Amino acid sequence: ATDGLAAKPPMGWSSWNKFGAEIDDKTVRAMADAIVAFGLRDAGYVYVNIDDGWQGERGADGVLRPNAKFPDMKALADYVHSKGLKLGIYSSPGPKTCAGYAGSYGHVAQDAKTFAEWGVDYLKYDLCSGEWFYADADTVQRTYYEMGAALRATGRPIVYSLCQYGRFDVGAWGRQVGGHLWRTTGDITDDYPTMARIGFDKNGKAELAGPGGWNDPDMLEVGNGGMTKDEYLTHMSLWAMSAAPLMMGHDLRDTGVEVLKILENREVIAVDQDARGVQGKAVRKDGATEVWNKPLADGSVAVALFNRGDKAARMELKAADAGASGLAGVRDLWRGVDLPAGEQAFDVPARGVVMVRVKGG
Ligand code: GLA
Repeated sequence: ATDGLAAKPPMGWSSWNKFGAEIDDKTVRAMADAIVAFGLRDAGYVYVNIDDGWQGERGADGVLRPNAKFPDMKALADYVHSKGLKLGIYSSPGPKTCAGYAGSYGHVAQDAKTFAEWGVDYLKYDLCSGEWFYADADTVQRTYYEMGAALRATGRPIVYSLCQYGRFDVGAWGRQVGGHLWRTTGDITDDYPTMARIGFDKNGKAELAGPGGWNDPDMLEVGNGGMTKDEYLTHMSLWAMSAAPLMMGHDLRDTGVEVLKILENREVIAVDQDARGVQGKAVRKDGATEVWNKPLADGSVAVALFNRGDKAARMELKAADAGASGLAGVRDLWRGVDLPAGEQAFDVPARGVVMVRVKGG
């Protein structure tokens, strides 16, 4: 969208990956507390998003009420806002959401108004329910446009997240319907093969991404325990190189120090959030290794050396990887150290990564 929202890829937390539909007011408040306590808000993670499972029934007036697990959505929004955070919520264009709760069908403008009245700052709109999932492209585009217009009509700035799994060529029209991010795939799960398939190969067309509109390869699994440290480093590096939204998906109360170091690395976050908003991509592939680059606003370039193989690999960092004729400065972002200038080689662990920020010259 062109409304100035999501000039950078949105960052925050969402309930789905860890809690599924087992989410309640108390847990959301605890996540807001933890995001602040662990320094994650100050690292940029500001959205606290309730995914599917909050919805109750509609009243006689048609207004959608939360279920018993969310006694007072406005009070919850106030609480989240009082912590310097923003609140996100979830709905679907069809009569039912993916988890079978009430969707916005027939109540689009009314729901947008309700969300705005509660103080919601972000809506994930997920294409679910039977015939809606199989609708034709025009219908899907129209239905996403309808909610986008309804959100704008509320006058409240609300980030609009489109979720239809990369189907219907959504990247081509996501911005035009008011979207700020659009999913590029089916759901991520907390295992290396799924994460890698999405992150390396299904993260959307790079040329479609930029300030105000981002490819969304789905939410982070870092911290959920299904991957090794190197695999999670690859996960975070891929998302940062891709200028992807960074929505954490674990129980923030259980954030161990290794996980915190991955999620809170300011230099890696800065690559994701770079003002130029370029989505990085592979510039060189050799066997199981891939070298990616992402040009940054200050003229430097982030370069990631990925090893998708099951054995450690020796990988070269070349000036050409940064589109430069020489390397005047090399900073290792995961180790947080300056390296000697110039081309050099690294031992990259199996399923691991070395990520650097380089100055050409
Ligand atoms: C779909 C989405 C998920 C999540 C669930 C909720 O599967 O892709 O991210 O929102 O629905 O039911």
